[in-house]
Amino acid sequence: MEGFRTDRDSLAAILESSDKEFASRLYAKAYKTKADTIGEKVYLRGLIEISNICRKNCLYCGIRSGNTSVNRYEISAEEVTDAARFAADNGYASIVIQGGERKDRAFTEKITSILKEIAGIRPAGGEGTLGVTLSLGEQPYEVYREWAEAGARRYLLRIEASNRSLYEKIHPADSLHSYETRLQALKDLRDCGYQVGTGVMIGLPFQTVHDLADDLIFFKDMDIDMCGMGPYIEHSMTPLYDYRSILPSVEQRIELSLKMVALLRIMMPDINIAATTAMQALDPFGREKAIMAGANVLMPNITVGEVRADYQIYQNKPGVGEDAAISSSGIESRLREKKIPIGYGQWGDSLHFRKRK
Ligand code: 5AD
Ligand code: SF4
Repeated sequence: MEGFRTDRDSLAAILESSDKEFASRLYAKAYKTKADTIGEKVYLRGLIEISNICRKNCLYCGIRSGNTSVNRYEISAEEVTDAARFAADNGYASIVIQGGERKDRAFTEKITSILKEIAGIRPAGGEGTLGVTLSLGEQPYEVYREWAEAGARRYLLRIEASNRSLYEKIHPADSLHSYETRLQALKDLRDCGYQVGTGVMIGLPFQTVHDLADDLIFFKDMDIDMCGMGPYIEHSMTPLYDYRSILPSVEQRIELSLKMVALLRIMMPDINIAATTAMQALDPFGREKAIMAGANVLMPNITVGEVRADYQIYQNKPGVGEDAAISSSGIESRLREKKIPIGYGQWGDSLHFRKRK
């Protein structure tokens, strides 16, 4: 990897290149960077999909408000805290509560009371309390603060596409889907003391390798603590489906995603990077490959069975009916075969965040 540069044109050239041997060296270099900086451990977060009700209508997303064929659900506070207890009993020191964007007070208060309830759960042999990450979209500053005070420590809010004009192409042109509001929300989260995670979709229609290079530079400029990114996967009940003929191939999207993970690891060695479910949706070994390219976080789905099939942000989402007990899912044994340690019972906070505090 001699002469490796992270300026915009060099990043774009690496993303563009079809040289497989070069890509392998890039992944190896990213893995070594991770091992040398934060260690080889993979940390687990149990993912709970609390509700697929969403006020937004993003042009790529299967649970967009305009998709009337979705069976909308919201799981109860008890079901969330049961799942949190399940997580604590199964070696997860940390959970993610994810859902569509909702601003009704009944919902935001429900989250606050769930957080207070979870604060009393102590994973066996873990680091005290269960770490909670939220992923519930854009919210007013006061709501972010209320949730932080109730015990949430991390927040995930993807910028989706850091290039404003691309962002505008994949979202409806109205004030509900404003790029500015999105950016402001990311700043508010940091201000409220969260470990902040963001990310983008890779292989979107109209997206160029220079856009992706700019995404990486955006992450660096925003000084993010965590990143989750994965391939875009077309969904037939969305407007963006009309552009499926101009998408990169599935193989290209996987390779671009792995390169994005590797490049970001090299640019930001001490952040947390997720091996995302979308990677696995396009490649049965996608998450392992992402780990071998520098990712260090896995988010197995622990949502209770019946509603899982309704949280289809993209089609053929894996994990419907699997994954909950990490020990019985294939990924654990595959990681063990590769001698990659799993950080059971550990929060696995972003080292980057700990340094900046
Ligand atoms: N393909 C891939 N990822 C998607 N997301 C939404 N729709 C899709 C899709 N069709 C991602 C967005 C969102 C996250 C929860 O899921 O990046 O932030
Ligand atoms: Fe809602 Fe998120 Fe889907 Fe947009 S991407 S429609 S905000 S769930």
